Amino acid sequence: MPVVAVINRKGGSGKSTLATQLAGCLANRGSQVMLGDVDRQQSSLAWLRRRGAQSAPVAAIVGSAIGTQSVVRPPAGITHVVLDTPGGLQGYDLARIAMTADAILMPVSDSVFDRESAVHCHAELMTLPRVASGRCKVAVVGMRLDARTKGAARMQEWAEQNGLVYAGSLRESQVYTRCAEQGLSLFDVPAAKVEADLAQWRPIAGWLDETWAAAQRQEATSKAAIPVSAPSISPHARRRTLVRAPLPVPVSKAGPASEFRTGRDAARPPRAQRFGWLFTVFRAWA
Ligand SMILES: Nc1ncnc2c1ncn2[C@@H]1O[C@H](COP(=O)(O)OP(=O)(O)OP(=O)(O)O)[C@@H](O)[C@H]1O
Ligand SMILES: [Mg+2]
Repeated sequence: MPVVAVINRKGGSGKSTLATQLAGCLANRGSQVMLGDVDRQQSSLAWLRRRGAQSAPVAAIVGSAIGTQSVVRPPAGITHVVLDTPGGLQGYDLARIAMTADAILMPVSDSVFDRESAVHCHAELMTLPRVASGRCKVAVVGMRLDARTKGAARMQEWAEQNGLVYAGSLRESQVYTRCAEQGLSLFDVPAAKVEADLAQWRPIAGWLDETWAAAQRQEATSKAAIPVSAPSISPHARRRTLVRAPLPVPVSKAGPASEFRTGRDAARPPRAQRFGWLFTVFRAWA
């Protein structure tokens, strides 16, 4: 199932705006969308509640609060997942999100602080096997760019210089603020009113479609591939068992914890457990 995560460590970079708009875009295309909010602030879920209070019918989006540690489990019928994430995401939490996503969009404003932060975040993402191998693709969206300046061109140039894919730019517009207040997206309002902004979304949506189509092709190819490991198992091959290192023994098992026991005694496991690994090695070669 196509999953896109909106990530940027910088607070206020436009993650929730991009995630909610993206969810609105996909839902208005007829996709069954789940908007997962990984951020404790739950801006996206609050947006969904305002959306639910709309009197006029709007395309349905399912909301879900997701912890950085939890597994993303979309309900039955969901075809697309959009994840809104908190600022400052890094290390294990960042890796967990990247593991579930096929695409990552990074909203970046035209400021040196935002650009620097985005380069660091991208560098960390590239250390993750799923991202480095291209199974999860990353692209930047220039956010809140002043339409009267050359901000978009500057951002594109910066992205190219830093080896980042540039999916597109969104201008600074009151439409986004008003939409956020009402739980709406550009795709819910009459197109004639937001034509210029809709045009900016085309390359972004196009990049996502291409990314998801490539992911589907890759999945189909890997399913069709013949497993290479099976023929290499010879019936004459020696039986091997994984050699396990001895497990650390909790201090409490060796006797009641006491401040009078020496550190050496406390750390010393019983004899049978100390030499258990030798038995395992013996089994490996038997
Ligand atoms: N293109 C835009 N035009 C005008 N305002 C925008 C635009 N994008 C974002 N904003 C505004 O910028 C502010 C910050 O955006 P947003 O809440 O989406 O950032 P965030 O990265 O999710 O923040 P946080 O890190 O706190 O979760 C909001 O008030 C939002 O309405
Ligand atoms: Mg947010």
